[in-house]
Amino acid sequence: AAAEKGGWASFMAKEVAEQPEAVANTIRGRVQDGEVVIPELDGLDDLFVGINRVIITACGTASYAALVGKYAIEQWARVATDVELAHEFRYRDPVIGDDTLVISISQSGETMDTLMAVKYARERGARTLSICNTQGATIPRESDAVVYTHAGPEVAVASTKAFSAQITALLLLGLHMGRVRSVLTDTAAVAELASLPEKIASVLEKENDHVTQLANWMADTRSVLFLGRHVGYPIALEGALKLKEISYIHAEGFAAGELKHGPIALIEPGQPVFVIVPSPRHSALIHSKVVSNIQEIRARGARVIVVAEEGDAAVLPFADEVIHIPLAGAMFEPVLAVVPLQIFAMALATAKGLDVDQPRNLAKSVTVE
Ligand code: G6P
Repeated sequence: AAAEKGGWASFMAKEVAEQPEAVANTIRGRVQDGEVVIPELDGLDDLFVGINRVIITACGTASYAALVGKYAIEQWARVATDVELAHEFRYRDPVIGDDTLVISISQSGETMDTLMAVKYARERGARTLSICNTQGATIPRESDAVVYTHAGPEVAVASTKAFSAQITALLLLGLHMGRVRSVLTDTAAVAELASLPEKIASVLEKENDHVTQLANWMADTRSVLFLGRHVGYPIALEGALKLKEISYIHAEGFAAGELKHGPIALIEPGQPVFVIVPSPRHSALIHSKVVSNIQEIRARGARVIVVAEEGDAAVLPFADEVIHIPLAGAMFEPVLAVVPLQIFAMALATAKGLDVDQPRNLAKSVTVE
């Protein structure tokens, strides 16, 4: 096993470090002459034209990638998109039919809950597309089409490189769908795909030691909260899930705007809160809303750790710690912002003496309902 880890302390550490490659491999061969063209979807334009609705279904970490996909598909392909946990989807009478595209996301392609949701969608006449990391797995075989993520085998139970590859595949799919539906105007996004791997590498290089040290200081912490807005919201959920999964610490992610409707009552002096801050360049409004949220929790004694774009000076006066990510398009920030949260969870679990690859009670792939 030591040899398979290639010198890394754990599979998770290796897989976190492999993210630039996982993302690059997922993009490779899918950009042609300044446009996203996914060869596997050749001749399948019918999947995307004449639909009124997209439902993305998944479990666990893949469901948070799905939430990022909702923003990307709505923005670029202009079709109403919802995310449904696979195990909730078919235990009611959902409104779906032949005008619905159901996208499933699964690293393993074998998660029973997700498989059953896909089968159910097909029976109801929906069109189905699978985003999967495992060639020839059951879910892609049961779907009309598949877009593979090329993250390589993921061994650690807590998903990392599969997650960033899933978001990448959804960004590609959103851009592909926008082109096929003739509504895509954002050409800058296509150009930006190429620089994503090196930006992830830069986060790994610049923030690994800083975030590890932070986690070491916080090894006795009993609860950590995560806040995000827009595509930072799913990243807040994922940051909390990573911590729960491998360090057994109570953690919760919230939409920052939801704070005042309840969660702010949890803030007491010393409570650590990670805040994913969107770039002010994309929306000064969204940025300023998140900065006010930071002020609100800081005034109540929270210990604020921000994940913000390099050069975002507005957050500095209110942050106890700042983790930087490089400048990137709005839809690309999640792939960068999640990296320090993965490192944090891993370092904290390690500081507590836990096995980060094999957390208690969890399985890599849940093949029962
Ligand atoms: C399990 C794993 C999670 C994973 C989820 C979905 O619960 O512990 O890490 O996110 O299944 O797995 P999938 O293979 O469908 O992406």
